Amino acid sequence: MTSSTTSPTAPRIALVTGANKGVGRAIAQALAELGNTVYLGARDEERGKAAEAELREAGLDARFVKLDVTDEASVRLAAKHIEEEHGRLDILVNNAGISTPWRTPSQTPLDEVRSTFETNVFGYITVTNATLPLLRLSDAARIVNISSVIGSLTAASSTDLEGSEDFPDGKFPVILCHSVSKAAVNSLTLMYANELRDEGILVNAVSPNWVPTDANYNTGNLTLAQGAVMPVRMATLPDGGPTGTFTSSSISGEALDLPW
Ligand SMILES: NC(=O)c1ccc[n+]([C@@H]2O[C@H](COP(=O)([O-])OP(=O)(O)OC[C@H]3O[C@@H](n4cnc5c(N)ncnc54)[C@H](OP(=O)(O)O)[C@@H]3O)[C@@H](O)[C@H]2O)c1
Repeated sequence: MTSSTTSPTAPRIALVTGANKGVGRAIAQALAELGNTVYLGARDEERGKAAEAELREAGLDARFVKLDVTDEASVRLAAKHIEEEHGRLDILVNNAGISTPWRTPSQTPLDEVRSTFETNVFGYITVTNATLPLLRLSDAARIVNISSVIGSLTAASSTDLEGSEDFPDGKFPVILCHSVSKAAVNSLTLMYANELRDEGILVNAVSPNWVPTDANYNTGNLTLAQGAVMPVRMATLPDGGPTGTFTSSSISGEALDLPW
């Protein structure tokens, strides 16, 4: 990783999509605990307001904003709301994702692939493009795209993953929707990183590792707070920090470079 110069100071203005539960909520909480103002993007008002109330109860500056990543009008309205309240955005965490049943390619109905891409891929692009004008007004804009090692083409193309912490049985799991959508997230991360590099906007793909949420039947080897460590680190990178990277972190918070 590139070394840093100055660190952006709190309070920063952050937007986390899919922040009413799971990984997104944990990232939102951790960003708010650093003293930042965090917009909790949620498609359901009741769930979004419930998360907002819990975090505000803990003394954090968390603000629900209605945002369905598959609905461009709702994304535009959310961006307008943030613009009216702050005039800029410093941190965007594209996190909202859906998880369809884990099926092999030959067993996956096309509708499931389409709906997964609508949220996990097109949703990231929609929110990024809608908020870029606000991010460009920040003096330290950071974009974090939540990805997964299951999107790694390098790992998928390896025939021997024995000894890997991520794939202890030595095999890459054959799950179409999740893998292919996260491979696309990795690709779009690099495209945005390259486009925005000269503007100093840092764009990175981060895996929360494996944490218990509704999306994975509440399995996992890290806690939600541990899963939020690397996304938060990349969201608060100092100027001159890395861009176009794919990372995660271990239980102890040690940074892990993931293969593309
Ligand atoms: N859990 C893991 O171990 C793991 C590992 C690698 C990567 N990830 C990634 O982490 C991210 C979060 O997943 P999670 O595990 O926290 O799953 P989760 O608990 O199911 O949370 C998903 C979140 O996304 C929201 N969402 C879904 N569709 C949306 C839409 N159209 N607009 C706005 N929000 C929407 C959900 O809102 P509702 O409550 O309204 O459904 C929920 O808040 C995903 O990108 C996932 O791929 C997770």
